[in-house]
Amino acid sequence: MSVFNSQARDQSQLILALSKGRIFEDTLPLLEEAGITVTENPETSRKLILATNDPNVRVIIVRATDVPTYVQHGAADFGVAGKDVLLEHGGEGLYQPIDLNIAACRMSVAVKNGFDYATAVRQGARLRVATKFVQTAREHFAAKGVHVDLIKLYGSMELAPLVGLSDAIVDVVSTGNTLRANDLVEVEEIMQISSRLIVNQAALKLKRERLQPILAAFERASKMKK
Ligand code: ADP
Ligand code: PRP
Ligand code: MG
Repeated sequence: MSVFNSQARDQSQLILALSKGRIFEDTLPLLEEAGITVTENPETSRKLILATNDPNVRVIIVRATDVPTYVQHGAADFGVAGKDVLLEHGGEGLYQPIDLNIAACRMSVAVKNGFDYATAVRQGARLRVATKFVQTAREHFAAKGVHVDLIKLYGSMELAPLVGLSDAIVDVVSTGNTLRANDLVEVEEIMQISSRLIVNQAALKLKRERLQPILAAFERASKMKK
């Protein structure tokens, strides 16, 4: 088979796409419920394909925003991704059966302490908004009838209002510590966020027998977290 054939992958394997950090860590107990133990640690290993105790199940480590892409194209059969990431991706080719209730946070608008957001909005000011989540931000402000110039960033959004790059940010907030540490205040909650199991639509049909017990275990374990 040609090395250039991107479809060249062992279809007897089930491949789960995860991102390092909180998604990987919060998914481990769900995998345990399905009897799957990841036998390598992505924090200490440079390997991107991790073995499990089941020779037919492997975990691949990708950036959080890339998880839906791998699953959409069938390079991974299933994955775990935040609702924030899924809304930006659009969800094409993905079946989203289960809210796993992990990596819980909220998507919010925040401004520098002292910036009168309510008055700016009421007066119809044009706001500069920095965010990684441009689709969600665009929809949110369009629904409110607020005109915005969106500035796409890839991280450290909290910095933007401090150095005059933007008037506001749209970012995920959990404890609020990062906002407080940077003298920002949350002025609007856009939505609650948690991570979802996503499954490639073709894999769901072709590998249903092997996927189903794992999905059922994830569902059981995530209900216990509610
Ligand atoms: P990234 O490297 O893209 O920032 P993260 O591991 O930080 O990846 O985030 C993965 C997902 O976890 C996000 O898509 C979001 O749904 C959720 N998340 C992000 N930040 C937090 C947080 N501070 N607390 C809880 N969940 C979070
Ligand atoms: C996320 C997010 C916020 C922070 C919010 O960053 O981008 O900065 O968490 O959490 P808090 O309200 O509890 O402070 P993360 O920790 O994922 O760091 P990152 O910049 O590597 O994404
Ligand atoms: Mg992060």
